[in-house]
Amino acid sequence: MKAAFGGWCLALLAPIWPPVLAQDGGNNVTLCQANDSFNSTSASTPYEFNNNVWGEGALDNGSQCLSVFDEGASWSVTYQFTGNPELVKSFPRMKVHPSRLPVLFWNISALDFKADWSIYVQGTENSSPEEQAQAYDETYVRQNAAIDVFLSDDAWNSTQVGPPIEIMIWFWRTPTIVPLGYFESTPAVDTVEVDGMDFSLYHGWNAQGQHVFSWLSESNMTSTDADYSPLLRYIWQKGLLSGALWLGQLEFGFEVMHAGEQTVSQVKPGYNLHLIRDGDSDDRPKSTAIVQSATSTRAASTAPSPTVTSPSEPAATTSSSAGRLAPAGMASNRWFDATCLAALLSGAVLFLISILHIDS
Ligand SMILES: *[C@@H]1O[C@H](CO)[C@@H](O)[C@H](O)[C@H]1NC(C)=O
Ligand SMILES: *[C@@H]1O[C@H](CO)[C@@H](O)[C@H](O)[C@H]1NC(C)=O
Ligand SMILES: *[C@@H]1O[C@H](CO)[C@@H](O)[C@H](O)[C@H]1NC(C)=O
Ligand SMILES: *[C@@H]1O[C@H](CO)[C@@H](O)[C@H](O)[C@H]1NC(C)=O
Ligand SMILES: *[C@@H]1O[C@H](CO)[C@@H](O)[C@H](O)[C@H]1NC(C)=O
Ligand SMILES: *[C@@H]1O[C@H](CO)[C@@H](O)[C@H](O)[C@H]1NC(C)=O
Ligand SMILES: *[C@@H]1O[C@H](CO)[C@@H](O)[C@H](O)[C@H]1NC(C)=O
Repeated sequence: MKAAFGGWCLALLAPIWPPVLAQDGGNNVTLCQANDSFNSTSASTPYEFNNNVWGEGALDNGSQCLSVFDEGASWSVTYQFTGNPELVKSFPRMKVHPSRLPVLFWNISALDFKADWSIYVQGTENSSPEEQAQAYDETYVRQNAAIDVFLSDDAWNSTQVGPPIEIMIWFWRTPTIVPLGYFESTPAVDTVEVDGMDFSLYHGWNAQGQHVFSWLSESNMTSTDADYSPLLRYIWQKGLLSGALWLGQLEFGFEVMHAGEQTVSQVKPGYNLHLIRDGDSDDRPKSTAIVQSATSTRAASTAPSPTVTSPSEPAATTSSSAGRLAPAGMASNRWFDATCLAALLSGAVLFLISILHIDS
């Protein structure tokens, strides 16, 4: 009698119990408050997990818990958010820690990422992909799965909240969201292949003044095992940012704006995210990227609002581009020629302008 009472009482109370950092049986941890975090001490999963519900007022319109299983062997997030679907609610994530960061942008030798994940509206985990997609539509899921890194021209600032530059790699997204700069970018030009997938680059500025670069996979991925450093290298080699910036934070997570029903994002055991610097003991020759020529077509859609990840204070500085051109390793000579030509032409224009100024 007593046991039966305890059972149903707990079942009823569990959903409304004050969300505390719960440690069930020692190995599993559940994070439900906005900024609950947990550092795994396991050598094979050296990550800091954070529930990271950073959207202002997000918890007034929903809830989210991140569960870390067996010291980080796997993890999953369950959430439901209504309210304004244009606002980012959260970026539940794992952060590489200890991290070998900060590191100078041009000294990143490899960015190894191996993971298998699944995203489903609760109750459809065993349904067909079509039924799962229908469930995303019906409950209006707006989210992605992405790597997120932050940069600054100051080493210490790059490791803190709100660095002026953010680079994301989107592996999965509902068609209801697009990245910042979606309409101003030239993704067909800036396309690089990694793990057999084309990634296209977008960039724009967010409300906090952060310059945000987003690499989007051409189609959804739910697993990968590759070195993604070519996507980072492309950005400084093409002169879009200086290679002398500091990269101070490396994360993988799920950026969520809306989910009408309980939705789950789950990272399966065996994942790995880590960065190798030039000269590290595990350093190896750099991967070269296949830079595509202008072939990709852009999937046009209605104009959902852009999204970004960081809880940040207004950021003032944006590092100027150093305009370094590609050294060895870039695969496409056509691309290289075009970039050189563009640099020469803009140099000539600047020269003419300076002459005209002196004359006038
Ligand atoms: C931790 O979670 C895993 C996966 O759900 C489960 O198999 C295991 O029994 C849990 N461990 C404890 C101590 O509750
Ligand atoms: C969130 O938690 C982390 C680690 O516990 C702490 O360093 C950080 O200041 C917290 N942030 C906020 C906004 O409370
Ligand atoms: C995890 O480790 C980092 C770095 O030492 C620290 O800043 C953070 O507060 C730790 N988080 C927790 C929950 O202990
Ligand atoms: C929460 O919902 C209310 C009512 O729909 C809305 O006014 C508010 O903007 C929402 N907040 C967020 C962060 O979505
Ligand atoms: C870092 O990168 C710069 C520029 O490519 C290079 O000159 C320097 O040798 C690299 N540092 C190390 C430790 O390899
Ligand atoms: C990703 O999958 C969702 C659900 O199946 C689908 O709605 C969406 O169009 C896919 N996105 C891309 C870029 O293929
Ligand atoms: C670091 O960030 C702080 C706060 O945003 C800013 O005041 C300071 O100027 C930055 N330092 C450098 C060297 O950029």
